[in-house]
Amino acid sequence: KIMPGITLGDTVPNLEVETTHKNFKLHDYFADSWTVLFSHPGDFTPVCTTELGAMGKYAHEFEQRGVKLLGLSCDDIQSHKDWIPDIEAFTPGSKVTYPIIADPNKEIIPQLNMIDPIENGPSRALHIVGPDCKIKLSFLYPSTTGRNMDEVLRALDSLLMAAKHKNKIATPVNWKPDEPVVISPAVSDEEAKKLFPQGFKTAELPSKKGYLRVADVS
Ligand code: BEZ
Repeated sequence: KIMPGITLGDTVPNLEVETTHKNFKLHDYFADSWTVLFSHPGDFTPVCTTELGAMGKYAHEFEQRGVKLLGLSCDDIQSHKDWIPDIEAFTPGSKVTYPIIADPNKEIIPQLNMIDPIENGPSRALHIVGPDCKIKLSFLYPSTTGRNMDEVLRALDSLLMAAKHKNKIATPVNWKPDEPVVISPAVSDEEAKKLFPQGFKTAELPSKKGYLRVADVS
């Protein structure tokens, strides 16, 4: 089955959206920063209430990184506004400071590839969008599985780290900021010596191929 719709590297369509803050065109919101755009099946539902609460609690982490949040839920603005006190009450310390897009007729989610093809309905999709309005990372979870916001932050930190190093580095399994990174296979040892004057370690592996090079960039 072929999944239709926008994916990594595609430009998010410049839709005019109605939100709990004001109405805007998506590209105006994305301009000059990274954005985490995340969808929810509907208001006043249990998993969504916990997820939006967690995002509200983590909002300062995204702010510190200069990254914007933008939620979407498949109900109207009045419903979103009525729901926010529940979200904040259920997750102590959470403030829903980010805008939530209204999509009561489910017209926006297909255009943003935020559909669950098994249910043929709304999903828990999440796109990390770069300042160029292109999708850099996507998650697609079914409505029955709440996302892990620590992983969203971790993946975002990886994207920011790779971008800072012009994708000459990558981050290994379970990487966290301050941990060593690996050098991209596209970078020769000669270039790596210039890029990482502090040095790097090449893992000694049975194949003797020196492809796993670890550098400390913190
Ligand atoms: C929820 O947010 O809990 C939910 C929403 C739609 C379907 C199932 C669960």
